Amino acid sequence: MSNHASPDLFLHPDFDGHENVCFVTDSASGLRAIIAIHRHGEMFAAGGIRMFPYADTQAALRDVLRLSRAMTYKLAVAGLPVGGAKSVIIGDPEVDKTVDLLTAFAGAVDRHGGSYRCGCDVGINADDLSIIRDHTAYTPPARLGDLAIPTATGVYHAIRAGVEVALGKSSLEGISVAVQGVGQVGARLCKMLAADGCRLVAADVDASRSSAVAEDSGATIISPQEILAADVDVLSPCALGSALSRDSLPDIRAKVICGAANNQLAAPDIDHALHTAGILYVPDFVANAGGVIGGLQVDCGYDENESADRVSAIYDSVHAILRLATESGTSTNVAAERFARQILDAK
Ligand code: NAI
Repeated sequence: MSNHASPDLFLHPDFDGHENVCFVTDSASGLRAIIAIHRHGEMFAAGGIRMFPYADTQAALRDVLRLSRAMTYKLAVAGLPVGGAKSVIIGDPEVDKTVDLLTAFAGAVDRHGGSYRCGCDVGINADDLSIIRDHTAYTPPARLGDLAIPTATGVYHAIRAGVEVALGKSSLEGISVAVQGVGQVGARLCKMLAADGCRLVAADVDASRSSAVAEDSGATIISPQEILAADVDVLSPCALGSALSRDSLPDIRAKVICGAANNQLAAPDIDHALHTAGILYVPDFVANAGGVIGGLQVDCGYDENESADRVSAIYDSVHAILRLATESGTSTNVAAERFARQILDAK
């Protein structure tokens, strides 16, 4: 039996002292979900809902434990007094997502009494969130709109910082960027990069999405199999996690990797391999914090202008983390986790 299948959840390799892990079922709607609160934080815990056709419960558990821990680090670096959490709903969003299932899930969020606040993630869109919002107050207010915009904006600022450090260029004009996955975030990022004069290459498994981006941003579309190996300055993983693996690493030609996808590293030591290969990896949880910064503005008591300033400050956080990595001779992910832990320990 592998460690992942250990019946003792406290010994699970991805268990990191999570403060609350809740298995949720509803037989009428077929809901099977896990809500993991890594840290409750000073105010509450927050993190999106992912709906995905996990191969089994172990795969879902692994994902929710890793994602909720990354949320704690993301929120710490973003300077918010909120702990990290995440939910996963086991199922195919195209097939299994129903109003009843979302309503049952909202009930589970509501029963946390505000200690957990949810938002969108892969497989759960703004329309789904509006159904959930009918049954619990613990979601971002509808008026905050599309949070993929601040997420893309944060990634854009993180790319600027990464390009400055790795390529010594203060402008993105003429920089080539390959975007893997042009969904809610990737498509918006392409628009921002195109406006700055970047040369874009993009790929999506959904052909309708890639052709929309070709039209909107002038991106050259290549196949999803080719995108990680594209001959570009920057690779931006904006699809699902684990894009950076032992298999994909030898093919990567970009000098900077910076994207929105959560858990880009298929295994923790890939970060070290990227470092050794001279590729600057901007840690995902630092680059993609814009959505949560935008989504928590009401709960945390700041306005739209301050929210925009906090999203722009991702640029400064990336610089600080890259400096720390250089000074300490560590990989960027190790430096980012150290940076986050320093903030958490100082509380
Ligand atoms: P999305 O589901 O709208 O877009 C993902 C896109 O990737 C889809 O168009 C999908 O067809 C495509 N895709 C999937 N596998 C692919 C592959 N192998 N090659 C190429 N394309 C592929 O999701 P969204 O909201 O744009 O999020 C993207 C990533 O950013 C996710 O990993 C998400 O967890 C992360 N993220 C999103 C935030 C948000 O505000 N939406 C906030 C923070 C992180």
